[in-house]
Amino acid sequence: MQTLKDSLSHLVANAFATAFPEADLSALPLSVQPAAEEAFGDFQCNAAMGAAKVLRLAPRAIAETVAAELPTNDLLANVDIAGPGFINLTLADDALARHLEAQQADAHLGTPQLGSGKTLILDYSSPNVAKPMHVAHIRSTVIGDALKRIYRALGYTVMGDNHLGDWGTQFGILIMGYRHFLQPEALAASPVDELQRIYVLSHQKGEEDPAWKEQARAELVKLQAGDPENRALWQTFIDLSMEEFNRIYNRLDVSFELVRGESYYNAALPGVVERLQRLGLVRESEGALVAFLEDEKLPPAIVRKSDGGYNYTTTDLATVFSREQEFHPDAILYVTDERQQLHFRQFFALARKAGAATSLRHIWFGLMRLPEGLLSTRKGTAIKLDRLLDEAEKRAMELVRQSSPGMPPTEQRAVAQAVGIGAVKYADLSQNPQSAITFTWEKALSMEGNSAPYLQYASARIASVIDKYHERFPEGDYMSFPMVLDTPQARRLALRLARYPDAIVDAATQTKPSLLADALYDLSQAYSSYYQNVPFLKAEEGVRESRIRLCDLTARVLRHGLSLLGIRTPERI
Ligand code: ARG
Repeated sequence: MQTLKDSLSHLVANAFATAFPEADLSALPLSVQPAAEEAFGDFQCNAAMGAAKVLRLAPRAIAETVAAELPTNDLLANVDIAGPGFINLTLADDALARHLEAQQADAHLGTPQLGSGKTLILDYSSPNVAKPMHVAHIRSTVIGDALKRIYRALGYTVMGDNHLGDWGTQFGILIMGYRHFLQPEALAASPVDELQRIYVLSHQKGEEDPAWKEQARAELVKLQAGDPENRALWQTFIDLSMEEFNRIYNRLDVSFELVRGESYYNAALPGVVERLQRLGLVRESEGALVAFLEDEKLPPAIVRKSDGGYNYTTTDLATVFSREQEFHPDAILYVTDERQQLHFRQFFALARKAGAATSLRHIWFGLMRLPEGLLSTRKGTAIKLDRLLDEAEKRAMELVRQSSPGMPPTEQRAVAQAVGIGAVKYADLSQNPQSAITFTWEKALSMEGNSAPYLQYASARIASVIDKYHERFPEGDYMSFPMVLDTPQARRLALRLARYPDAIVDAATQTKPSLLADALYDLSQAYSSYYQNVPFLKAEEGVRESRIRLCDLTARVLRHGLSLLGIRTPERI
């Protein structure tokens, strides 16, 4: 289904073409956007300003000529010009109501299927084996999962791939640590913490003792050569780490279509380097093979170290070629923190030169500061995610006990889980990913502000209005009545609902789930004023049905939107 914004943009573009048949306006965005202020109308078009240069006319004169081609009719109730040449459009109430009815009947709630027939690979989460998940991996997990759901809503086929850090020099050090420092009870109690501990000890020892370091390197070579004992140890590290990661993924409702760590691409690495050599893209420098990227104004990237080992860039190249061959994706998107920007710029440039044709995009995000006490002391940024989630559920339980004291305890626990986990996710997703954010419990769990509990509560409240309707009017069938936008509150709500599909498109194209969160918050506020000012069940028949029908669409949109953020919506809170 076409969005309202798209239909109106189309209309405006046609009006421009009719008004100025001779001019080439193809370079201009002849589109509309939501009106900056409600008083101006529903949508506005700012293209007259841009067209002024091309047409050599004053923007206001252009706007007037175009507006003359936009007669008021069943669709448009009003078209006027403001300021230097803004064209403001106000929809006819009936047209808006019919659009919402179509949206309500649409299987995708009006979301245009822009991505049908297209495949995306989303590379996210990707923690490192034998290390606790870093706060950056958590953000990558939550943001990547939301993007996956958002792209799917637009009809894309999306494969989530967890590109684990499961290979590299650290494994020689880890094997030495395992043989000399392991405390079995500690491993049983908290495997990844213990692996991290023995790694740190072994690494320190290597810094002081060259023979130790040499031995660690020898263990790595043995591992790479397929030595059964070292392979088995390595597999143990992976299994123990995966168990912990999977527990976290389960709690977060996150899953992957592929879990292919760096090691999966091992055998392909020499071939990648040969390809680069053949294409003349690398040169020897102090024993290493280096790609120089002066043309791109980027520092050089090492693809094979002087000891013959390959690195991150080489593995990422191999991964692109493998994904291209196997899945023919239209694009590959990588979700990591901001510190990897240079790596991705270098690797994308090199991939392009080496013949990768797929569009490659790095979606980076800023740091998130967590409440005191949730950071592990040693590294400063590795968090005790389980503790964060436990605490969230505990605090959510207090909310649920207050709002639903009579609810059976098992249901209370399930709701607290949905609310607590939702609060943590939403606190992350509702912020512009590229700004540094601070997590606070007050904001995450606020019942008044822009938070998951607020939206979940709004959704449950609408569900209960609809339940009450069915109780009072068991024969009632509100879907068989037309929607009528007979109050300013209903109209304001309707406009938010009609803009919802555009928010999904914007969140996807700008890779910012926060744009979707903003739209949902806006919507729930519009609903709140509708609910407070307009009687539903007390209204006469017909009016009542029409109003309940609008509630129904609001509930569906809220649930749909929250599900795209990976947040559950309990029936009751
Ligand atoms: N394991 C990496 C890290 O923790 C992230 C990997 C991101 N994905 C990729 N294909 N490079 O920093």
